[in-house]
Amino acid sequence: MTDVENPQQIQDEIKKICFEGAWAWIIEIVFWCLVACLIMYLIRRLVEGPFYRKPNRVDGKVVIVTGCNTGIGKETAMELARRGARLYMACRDAARCEAARLEIIEKTQNTNVFNRTLDLSSLSSVRQFAERFKAEEQKLDILVNNAGVMATPRKLTADGFEQQMGINHLGHFLLTNLLLDRLKAAAPSRVVVVSSAAYIFGSINKQDLMSEKSYSKFFGAYSQSKLANILFTRKLSEILKDSKVTVNCLHPGIVRTELMRYNSCPKTWNVIKRVIDIFIRSPKAGAQTSLFLSLDPKLECVSGGFYYNMLRFPVLPKAKDAEMAEWLWQESEKLVGLKQSMAAPVKKEENSEMETVKVVARED
Ligand SMILES: NC(=O)c1ccc[n+]([C@@H]2O[C@H](COP(=O)([O-])OP(=O)(O)OC[C@H]3O[C@@H](n4cnc5c(N)ncnc54)[C@H](OP(=O)(O)O)[C@@H]3O)[C@@H](O)[C@H]2O)c1
Ligand SMILES: *[C@@H]1O[C@H](CO)[C@@H](O)[C@H](O)[C@H]1NC(C)=O
Repeated sequence: MTDVENPQQIQDEIKKICFEGAWAWIIEIVFWCLVACLIMYLIRRLVEGPFYRKPNRVDGKVVIVTGCNTGIGKETAMELARRGARLYMACRDAARCEAARLEIIEKTQNTNVFNRTLDLSSLSSVRQFAERFKAEEQKLDILVNNAGVMATPRKLTADGFEQQMGINHLGHFLLTNLLLDRLKAAAPSRVVVVSSAAYIFGSINKQDLMSEKSYSKFFGAYSQSKLANILFTRKLSEILKDSKVTVNCLHPGIVRTELMRYNSCPKTWNVIKRVIDIFIRSPKAGAQTSLFLSLDPKLECVSGGFYYNMLRFPVLPKAKDAEMAEWLWQESEKLVGLKQSMAAPVKKEENSEMETVKVVARED
């Protein structure tokens, strides 16, 4: 039967071979380096999340991405251009837009990429952008409402809105409404809204929507604007339920972008930041759920959802509050000067007259 001495003998042999002599150290160091690399790789895989890998193209489809000169928006725009889109880059800074446009053209070899000025902190800029776009294109296949600011000092937009609410929600609210006819003309078409899991901290403050009485830059104003993104998504998808225009929103993950620009850490934090960075997504990975919602053929008839890591997630009751969504919609219409409710359209002639009056009033 088995020799009792054997295991001891084997161990002694192993000791001799591996753990004696200088080169044993090298083997050990290499071994632990490999283990460390494997662990790092697994952590990064987990942090980066799933990638959209279906090869479907969008040749000739008209796409608008807001705030796409950097961050998640730029990566979203890059991939859509790579897949053949006719891409309108809607950015507030013309020089940064052009730099990103040239980079996208160079990397994707798609020359149908256009720079357009859109400053979401100004309703007249939103109107100008929409007017020019509508003169150029008869249809819009994909609108990605991506631009945003986070945890800024309290500041007002050109129209007097608290800027996080103004840029993240109201600017996009007006933009989307002005482009609805072009979206309908392209149906099946899609609206993708970049929200955030930060909505869980937020609530819609009916009495103080613009944070005039008290201002909390992240847990107040930012979270409120991101909750508004979800309520907007759900209300719009309900309004559009028979139109083959879908509307979905998402949380991109925690992504290494310029979003923290208003809250930079002190220099001494640099080492800690390096470590934290291991657990933060690259912009390319951060763009994947936006791409999934923009591209995946299986979502053609899916609307009103909140997604993260390319999966549909349930939302808290406050993000499903239909009454609040309705209130916010009505209030937003008033604030941006879109008077008639689409739920109850007014008569056609009256309607177009109102439009002219509004446009004239806005131009002086
Ligand atoms: N990064 C994250 O961890 C994270 C997490 C959850 C949600 N999000 C959401 O993801 C979206 C994209 O953010 P990001 O992380 O990519 O941030 P980012 O790198 O700061 O990019 C934001 C983009 O929005 C543009 N923008 C800001 N204000 C604008 C305005 N008034 N008009 C037009 N464009 C404007 C910026 O243009 P400029 O470069 O000219 O300023 C920039 O292109 C945001 O909606 C954000 O709330 C991000
Ligand atoms: C925008 O793009 C056009 C080409 O389509 C270019 O001629 C123009 O200089 C660009 N605008 C800016 C501000 O760089």
